[in-house]
Amino acid sequence: MLEAREITWKKDHKIILQDIHFHLLPGECVGLIGPNGSGKSSLLKILAFLETPTYGQLYFQGQSVPKSVPLPIRRKIAIVFQESLLLNTRVFDNVAAGLKIRGLSKGKIRERVDYWLEQFGVIHLTKQLARSLSGGEAQRVSLARAFAIEPDVLFLDEPFSALDAPTKEGLRIDLTKVFSSTQTTTVMVSHDFKDIAHLTNRALILLNGQVVAEGSPSELLRSPQKEEVERFLAHFAS
Ligand SMILES: Nc1ncnc2c1ncn2[C@@H]1O[C@H](COP(=O)(O)OP(=O)(O)OP(=O)(O)O)[C@@H](O)[C@H]1O
Ligand SMILES: [Mg+2]
Repeated sequence: MLEAREITWKKDHKIILQDIHFHLLPGECVGLIGPNGSGKSSLLKILAFLETPTYGQLYFQGQSVPKSVPLPIRRKIAIVFQESLLLNTRVFDNVAAGLKIRGLSKGKIRERVDYWLEQFGVIHLTKQLARSLSGGEAQRVSLARAFAIEPDVLFLDEPFSALDAPTKEGLRIDLTKVFSSTQTTTVMVSHDFKDIAHLTNRALILLNGQVVAEGSPSELLRSPQKEEVERFLAHFAS
């Protein structure tokens, strides 16, 4: 579905990502994990065509991706950012916006919006203004908006980071259900190994802009491969 070869990203003479190889198969949910500043969001932005790598090449559905990414490719992906970025309109219009751009009929839009707001337990907020939502509600609406366009690849940057423990647990359960029913191909960033262990089949550990380990969450815990990986994972041992 998506492949990145030898990705390096420099900004202001600083190397942010170095020689990253990444691939994503259809239906997979892959995790990117690492401490603050390790380059997780940067890699996600490059994979989602929001930043251009200094070196390296991206492939989407088998085709090499040009520097100026064509709209039909951009429209096949959806992103949920670390801070939810909703337009200050009603919840319905936020979820509908991506569908309008894609030319769906009014009836289809209503059906799709209602379905996804229902899946994420926020259908009762349809008419509420986005500005008045709580953090947890806004995150649910952002996820509904992303799934509504039925993307070929979904990118999630720390979807739970601003949530308290019970809210996070509830949303994690709902997201697990949605993943198993839709099989959406996903890249998910988290700094919490528990999220990665619950939701992904395979994860890459980033430290200082480099991939230092890769494997299923249980493989990574069992045999951390390098001392620096073991030190990082030790925080999640309990
Ligand atoms: N546009 C940019 N220009 C300059 N430096 C940048 C840019 N984007 C990211 N960086 C730097 O790259 C490094 C990695 O940042 P990034 O946001 O990818 O980390 P992260 O792993 O997502 O961290 P966090 O867990 O805090 O979200 C940081 O040192 C950051 O300051
Ligand atoms: Mg980040």
